[in-house]
Amino acid sequence: MDSLKICLVSAEVAPFAKTGGLADVSAALARHLHKKRHDVRLFMPLYRKVKGQVELEPVPELQDVPMRMGERTYWFSISTGKLPRSTQKVWFVRCPELFDREGIYTQDADEALRFALLSRAALETCQWTQWAPDIVHCNDWHTALMPLYLRTVYAWDKLFARTRTVLTIHNIGYQGVTGADRLKDLALENERRFLYQEDLNEGRVNFLKTGLLYAHALTTVSKTYAREIQGDEHGMGLQGLLRQRSDSLFGIVNGIDGEEWNPRKDPLIPAAFHARDLRGKEACKQALCERFGLAFDVRAPLFGIVSRLTVQKGLELLPDILPVLLRREDMRLVVLGSGDERYESYFKWLAGAFPKKVAFQAGFDNALAHQIEAGSDLFLMPSRYEPCGLNQMYSLRYGSVPIVRRTGGLADTVQPWDGANGTGTGFLFDEFKPEALQDAIQRALEVWRHEGAWARLVQNGMAQDFSWERQVDEYIALYTRLVPPR
Ligand code: ADP
Ligand code: GLC
Repeated sequence: MDSLKICLVSAEVAPFAKTGGLADVSAALARHLHKKRHDVRLFMPLYRKVKGQVELEPVPELQDVPMRMGERTYWFSISTGKLPRSTQKVWFVRCPELFDREGIYTQDADEALRFALLSRAALETCQWTQWAPDIVHCNDWHTALMPLYLRTVYAWDKLFARTRTVLTIHNIGYQGVTGADRLKDLALENERRFLYQEDLNEGRVNFLKTGLLYAHALTTVSKTYAREIQGDEHGMGLQGLLRQRSDSLFGIVNGIDGEEWNPRKDPLIPAAFHARDLRGKEACKQALCERFGLAFDVRAPLFGIVSRLTVQKGLELLPDILPVLLRREDMRLVVLGSGDERYESYFKWLAGAFPKKVAFQAGFDNALAHQIEAGSDLFLMPSRYEPCGLNQMYSLRYGSVPIVRRTGGLADTVQPWDGANGTGTGFLFDEFKPEALQDAIQRALEVWRHEGAWARLVQNGMAQDFSWERQVDEYIALYTRLVPPR
């Protein structure tokens, strides 16, 4: 098969800038496409926090490139830097005016413009270097205007004549809605006819929706989520459009980075372990308890949570059941997360009420995320919706049994434990209700008390293969179908 030229653009790339799974997936996809000898250009913004994390090499012919956006001219520069554990490079778009800010995302008025600039800078870099991409692969709302830009602003350029576009929906909950008064800034004032007229009439532009209209192919990150977003419960207003495009919508479940998340050789955890020798896991559990001043007892099950603290993650189900459970059961809970204030204060309160049993750390801490996966016996993910979810897969790999809601990628990657046959890898519940979660936890605790059954359950999980080696082929097959024959 011929090598493909793939222009992959993302707002987050691990380890440089990450708030969630998008970062892991963009990095892993680039790395694995590169490994299969495709020519990948992975673009992301040069956020303030990237500097110091990577050695940047300015691309000489791409310094202070002027780019017209509406009535303004912006200057951007490109530097490359090495993606860890790969010879693949990342192409950083430097535009201090827009990206040299504290966080990755902002509440600033020009938030939409920031990512429109990223999208266009990636395309203009292709032009300046005369590099004709076979595939432009954009991700989430941030870069979802790329297919439209190709059809309008860049339609004149033969360089893109054979380019096909793929838009991956990692999360339909974020659509990038901005006021229609910004169209000029986005260089789309003259392209109004291409936009969703109902939105325009109401004074809005929706980035993701625009991408759904113009990308040649749409993907999302699990088969179940691909089905769910076509329905009223999970479509978040885009279900009608997605149903119209269902022939071009594909579910490709995420893989996990088996190098970074490998309990055999994870430098971030206090002791290594593997399926046939779990002594290291016990040491990890003890270390985790000690770190947070929790009473350590091998027999007391330790539950872990690592999560963005947002409404998506289903944390509302916890307050009704946790205090009761914690009073009744000799269990431990370690929570790491950042996000909405109300969840942070809840977990703070809970840790204060059960100081020997519950620990909460607010903030983003990659090493601690690894330590929680390694040190916990069970992992809670009661998500309201979950496009794919990576943590349940990390958990399985680290012998931590996931308790998850049967939705999206959670339904596709966790198999229900079946005691009679000794099959399955975790515990699932359906209804978004505290009682349903409680029932799943109860079922898990019953198995916990039977050492043999528990060992089997853990082994089943650790034997799962969620590698990217396999998943990347699905993307390559899709790209290959899209590219027109020469
Ligand atoms: P989402 O992308 O919706 O947040 P995923 O499960 O796909 O959910 O990915 C979350 C990723 O972010 C995982 O790699 C997880 O370990 C990481 N993560 C989430 N919150 C934190 C945090 N507070 N500290 C460190 N890592 C986190
Ligand atoms: C999103 C989803 C998550 C998914 C991740 C990577 O943030 O919430 O379920 O795993 O993207 O695709």
